[in-house]
Amino acid sequence: MSVLLVLLFLSLATVNINEGCIESERQALFMFKHDVTDGANRLSSWSLHHGHGDCCQWDGVVCDNVTAHVLELHLANPRPLLDDYGSDAENEATERSKLRDCWLNWQNLQVIKLSNNRLNGSIPSSMGTLQSIVSLHLQKNHLSGEIPLSLNNCTDLILLDAGENELHGSIPRWIGDSLRKLVVLSLRSNKFSGYIPDELCTIGSLQVLDLADNNIIGSIPRCVSKFRAMANFNGSMGTAISYVIGAGTFVATIVMKGQMLEYGTNLNLVRSIDLSNNKLSGEIPVEVTSLFELKTLNLSHNLLSGTIPDRIGELRSLESIDFSVNKFSGSIPESMSYLTFLSHLNLSFNNLSGVIPSSTQLQSFDSSCYEGNQLCGLPVPNMCPENGTIHGVGHGGGNDNENETDRFWFGLVVGFVISFWIVFGPLVFDKRWRSIYTLFGSQTNVENH
Ligand SMILES: *[C@@H]1O[C@H](CO)[C@@H](O)[C@H](O)[C@H]1NC(C)=O
Ligand SMILES: *[C@@H]1O[C@H](CO)[C@@H](O)[C@H](O)[C@H]1NC(C)=O
Ligand SMILES: *[C@@H]1O[C@H](CO)[C@@H](O)[C@H](O)[C@H]1NC(C)=O
Ligand SMILES: *[C@@H]1O[C@H](CO)[C@@H](O)[C@H](O)[C@H]1NC(C)=O
Ligand SMILES: *[C@@H]1O[C@H](CO)[C@@H](O)[C@H](O)[C@H]1NC(C)=O
Ligand SMILES: *[C@@H]1O[C@H](CO)[C@@H](O)[C@H](O)[C@H]1NC(C)=O
Ligand SMILES: *[C@@H]1O[C@H](CO)[C@@H](O)[C@H](O)[C@H]1NC(C)=O
Ligand SMILES: *[C@@H]1O[C@H](CO)[C@@H](O)[C@H](O)[C@H]1NC(C)=O
Repeated sequence: MSVLLVLLFLSLATVNINEGCIESERQALFMFKHDVTDGANRLSSWSLHHGHGDCCQWDGVVCDNVTAHVLELHLANPRPLLDDYGSDAENEATERSKLRDCWLNWQNLQVIKLSNNRLNGSIPSSMGTLQSIVSLHLQKNHLSGEIPLSLNNCTDLILLDAGENELHGSIPRWIGDSLRKLVVLSLRSNKFSGYIPDELCTIGSLQVLDLADNNIIGSIPRCVSKFRAMANFNGSMGTAISYVIGAGTFVATIVMKGQMLEYGTNLNLVRSIDLSNNKLSGEIPVEVTSLFELKTLNLSHNLLSGTIPDRIGELRSLESIDFSVNKFSGSIPESMSYLTFLSHLNLSFNNLSGVIPSSTQLQSFDSSCYEGNQLCGLPVPNMCPENGTIHGVGHGGGNDNENETDRFWFGLVVGFVISFWIVFGPLVFDKRWRSIYTLFGSQTNVENH
C-alpha cells in the first residue's frame, strides 16, 4: 500500500517536472542562478524540490502560455539585491555577481530586468543572440567594458537602459543604424566619451534620450530635428501602443523635474532629452526648437555657449528646462514667456543678462533659478535700472510699446546730459571759460556772485 503511494507520488512529481518548462531553458536558468550571489535568497523557488520543476512557475520567470518558452525575466531589485546589503552576511554583501556569456538558450526572451543588482563584468556578447528581446534593463549595476557590438542583432529592442554602470568607450554608431525601434535609450551615469554620433538621429521612434553624466564632448548634433517622435506626437502613436507588451511590464526610469520617475504605460506621453553633466560645447542648434512634443530638456553642467534660441518658445510642450551651469550669454528670449506648461526652470550660473521676460510662469520660479547671471527684474532681487536705460539688448520679439517708452526716456536722458555738458562742461575744465561764464553769470544769475 505505502509502496503504491510512493510510486503514485513519484509519478506525479515527474509529471510536474516535465510540465510547462522547456528543459534547455530550465538548465540556462539554473546556470544563471549558479553564477549570481543570491544573498537575499530571492531565487529560492528556482529549484527542483517540492514539485517546483516547472520553471515557468519560478519567481520572476514569465513563460508563454502556449509554447512554454521563457518570455520574461523579472529580476530587478527594489533594493540593491541579488546579494542584499541588508543581510547579515557581510562577506556576501561585498561579493559581486557576473553575467555568464551563455544567453544562447533563450531565443524567445522579450524582457530582461536585471537592474539594481550588483552585477559586474561586461555585458555578455551572447546577449546579441536574443533576437526577440524588446526590453533590456541593466541599469544600476557595476557592468564595465563597452557595449558589445553583437547587440546590433537585437533589432526589435524598444528599450535599452544600461544607465548607472561603469561602461566606457564611445556611444556606438551602430545603435542608430540597427536599433531603429528604440523608444528609450538610457546610458546615463557611465563613463562614455567621444561625440554624440549623428546616426542616433535616425531613430525616429526615440522618445527618451538620456546620456547624462558621462564624458561626452563635441556639440549637440543638428540632426536632432529628425527625432520624429519628439517632433510630432502622431509620428509615434503606432509604436506607443505596440510596445506595451506582457502585463504592463514595460517600465522606464527617467529623470524629470529633478526626480527619478518610473513610467509604465504612460510612457507614450513622455518626451525627454537629458544631456546634462557632460562636456558638450558649442551652441544649442536651432533645430532643437522643432521638437514640438519635447517635455523635458536638461543641458545643465556642460560648456555650452551662445544664446538661448529665440524660438525656444515654440516648444509649447516643455515642462522642464535645465540650462544651469553653462556659458550661455545674451538675454532670456521673450518667447520663453509663451511656455505655459513650464513648471521647472533653471538658468542659474550662466552669463545671461537683461530683463527676465514677464509671464505667469517665469516670475513664479524661485530667484535661485536665475542666480549667477546679470539678470534683473522679478523674481531676482536686482531691480532693473529705472526708466531710461536700455535693457535686454537683442532679445527677439520684444514689446513695441515698451521699446518706445525706453527710447523716449533714453532720448530725454541723453539730451539732458549733452545740454548739461555744453553749458557747464567748459566751466569745469577751463579757467578762462569759467571767468567768462562768471561774467555772464553776474548778468544771468546762473552763479551766485
Ligand atoms: C496566460 O494565462 C493566464 C491564465 O489563463 C492569463 O491570465 C494570462 O493573460 C495569459 N498570459 C498570456 C501572456 O497570454
Ligand atoms: C567582479 O567582482 C568580483 C568580486 O568582487 C571580483 O573578484 C572581480 O574581479 C570583479 N570583476 C570585474 C570584471 O570587475
Ligand atoms: C547575429 O544574427 C545573425 C543572424 O540573425 C547570426 O548569424 C549571428 O550569429 C548573430 N550574431 C551574434 C553575435 O549573435
Ligand atoms: C494627428 O494627426 C491628425 C491628422 O493628421 C490630427 O487630426 C490629430 O489631431 C493629430 N493628433 C495629435 C495627438 O496630434
Ligand atoms: C539636470 O541634470 C542635472 C545633472 O545631471 C541634475 O542635477 C538636475 O537635477 C537635472 N535637472 C532636472 C530638472 O531634472
Ligand atoms: C558674457 O556675455 C557678454 C555679452 O553679453 C560677453 O561680452 C562676455 O564675454 C561674456 N563673458 C563670458 C565670461 O563669457
Ligand atoms: C539650479 O541649478 C543649480 C546648479 O545646477 C542647483 O545648484 C540648484 O539647486 C538648481 N535649482 C533648482 C531650483 O533646481
Ligand atoms: C517709469 O515710467 C512710467 C511711465 O512711463 C511711470 O509710471 C513709472 O512710475 C516710472 N517708474 C519709476 C520707478 O520711475
